[in-house]
Order: sequence, then structure tokens, then C-alpha cells
Amino acid sequence: MSVPDTGTAVGTLKFRNPLLLASGILGESAASMVRVYNSGAAGVVTKSIGSESRPGYRNPTVFEFGSGMLNAMGLPNPGIVDFGEVVRKTRASGVPTIASIFGSSPAEFAALAASMQEYGADAVELNLSCPHVEGFGAEIGSTPAMVGEVVKTVRDSVSLPIWAKMTPNVSDVAALAGAAEDAGADAIVAINTVKGMAISAKLRMPVLSHSVGGMSGRAVKYVGLRSVYEISGRCGLPVVGVGGISCGEDVAEYLMAGASAVQVGTAVSEGGPGVFGRIAGELSSFMSSEGFSSIREMVGIARR
Ligand SMILES: Cc1cc2nc3c(=O)[nH]c(=O)nc-3n(C[C@H](O)[C@H](O)[C@H](O)COP(=O)(O)O)c2cc1C
Repeated sequence: MSVPDTGTAVGTLKFRNPLLLASGILGESAASMVRVYNSGAAGVVTKSIGSESRPGYRNPTVFEFGSGMLNAMGLPNPGIVDFGEVVRKTRASGVPTIASIFGSSPAEFAALAASMQEYGADAVELNLSCPHVEGFGAEIGSTPAMVGEVVKTVRDSVSLPIWAKMTPNVSDVAALAGAAEDAGADAIVAINTVKGMAISAKLRMPVLSHSVGGMSGRAVKYVGLRSVYEISGRCGLPVVGVGGISCGEDVAEYLMAGASAVQVGTAVSEGGPGVFGRIAGELSSFMSSEGFSSIREMVGIARR
């Protein structure tokens, strides 16, 4: 059998394979994002960027456990003005670049998206889902009404593709995705981290400085799969799956649940950018041995 075609598309954006870097891991400098691309990813999502620079929370901000991690970074970032150079450099290196942004109001999201468009980003990803920063992320992305308002305001301000990133910490994630679709989003990204916390019994206190954080890695894969399955059953937009992906078969599972592409975060933080080449090879081998010749043949097959 010939080598399978692993190329895919999310709306109008075409990718050489379905593997993208998730927001928050190695997405703050052009050099690290170019390295990720050269290691086999088909594109990158930047760290979430806000209007002003933020230092984030004090340590400890990360807690690793056997099958994943908890983090409450506090959205540290250099601010939208300083980030222009990073997006321009990453794009100039030929790396498909999705710019993640967070704001505290629809107007703030729209202004950030307009800047990212000016910097040349290929798409903007709305972080409507960070679970641990008051006034941002999931605090304004947990109701269909707010999701719809943010997406619509951004839609009215920019022409570049809008990806809306969902929180899984709600009872009906598909309803949020439906609101994003109705408001003019081009793709849905699911999921951000699952709200959780760790306690140190010896110290009798929470491990993270912010107490509550977001869980990621292998432990959340089944929450992500369920979310993608529900979203792709409800709305017609392309879905980008994320959560706990660490091998080629994980990617196949997300594609079969309905995703057209995926993002990888914690596995990169654990294993470095080289995981992209390994996962791409495993996906290709899986497709060959299972008789799939294209990604399209796999998308949503578990739904049929
Ligand atoms: C350390 C860390 C930082 C993150 N920062 C962001 C962020 O800035 N914006 C965002 O939308 N998601 C952020 N995420 C969430 C990831 O993009 C992803 O949605 C989540 O971790 C699930 O994927 P994974 O299991 O492959 O890591 C972060 C995750 C981790 C572990």
C-alpha cells in the first residue's frame, strides 16, 4: 500500500499533517515555535496573549502527577504590543501560526484579534476557557450567550479565521460550540484544561499557589474525546481536538470522534518538540496498517 496522505484542513487553512502545538507550551518565542514546526508539527498556536503584560502567579504553578499535570500559570505573557515581533518572525519562517488571545470583554477580544491580524497571523484562537484566572477565560466562556457575544464582536472586527476554544467545565459543551458557530466562528477547539486541585497532606495545604488549576495530559483524554464527539454531533464547523494526546493512536481516536486536526500540549512539555515527529510517524503507520489512505476517511468514522 502507498504512503497515506496525512494532509488535512481546518476550514480554509491547510496543514501538512493534523498535529498542531497547543497554546501555552513553547509558544512564547519565534525560535521555539520554529523548532516545533521543524520537529514535525504542521502549525503552532501561540501562548495566550492579552492587552497588557502579566507576570502570572508565583510558584508553584505546575504540579506533575503520573498521568498528567495540573497548572495555574495565571496567563503570564508579554502583552499584545511586544508580541507583534514574535508573530511576524514565526510567519516569516513559513510556520502556520494561530494566535491565541484572551480578554475580559468582547471589545478587548476584538482589539487583540485586530492586532493579530495586522501582525499576519493565519487565524486567531479565542481563549474562552482558561479555568484559573478571575475575569478571563472560562469566566466569560461558560455560557452560550457570552461565547456568542465575544465571537460576534470579533467577527465584526476581523476577516481572519476565528477558532473558539471551549472549556470542558460545563454541563453542555456542545451548546457553547453551537453559540460560537451561530456567531460566525470558523472552527471549534476542544478542550482547555479540566478544573482540579492537588493537596499536600504533609503540608496540609494546596500544592499550587493559586490552589485551583487546570488538569491536562493523559488523564483528560477521555474528557476531550467525549467533548469532540458531542460538539461534532451538534455543529457543522471543523473541530480541533486537544487533551491528553501522546501517540499516533490517540490522534486517530480524536479524528474518529470528529476532529479534523489536533493539538498537543502536555506531551510536548514532557518529551520536547521531538514528540511531533514520533506521533506523525505512528499515525502514518496506524493508517497504513488499518487501510486508511487519507485523514478525511477517518474524520467522524466513530459517529457513523
Ligand atoms: C502549562 C500549560 C499552560 C497552558 N497555557 C494555555 C494558554 O495560555 N492558553 C490556552 O488556551 N490553553 C493553555 N493551556 C491548555 C492547553 O493548550 C491544552 O488545551 C490542554 O493542556 C489540554 O491538552 P494537553 O493534554 O495536550 O496538554 C495550557 C496548558 C498547560 C499544561
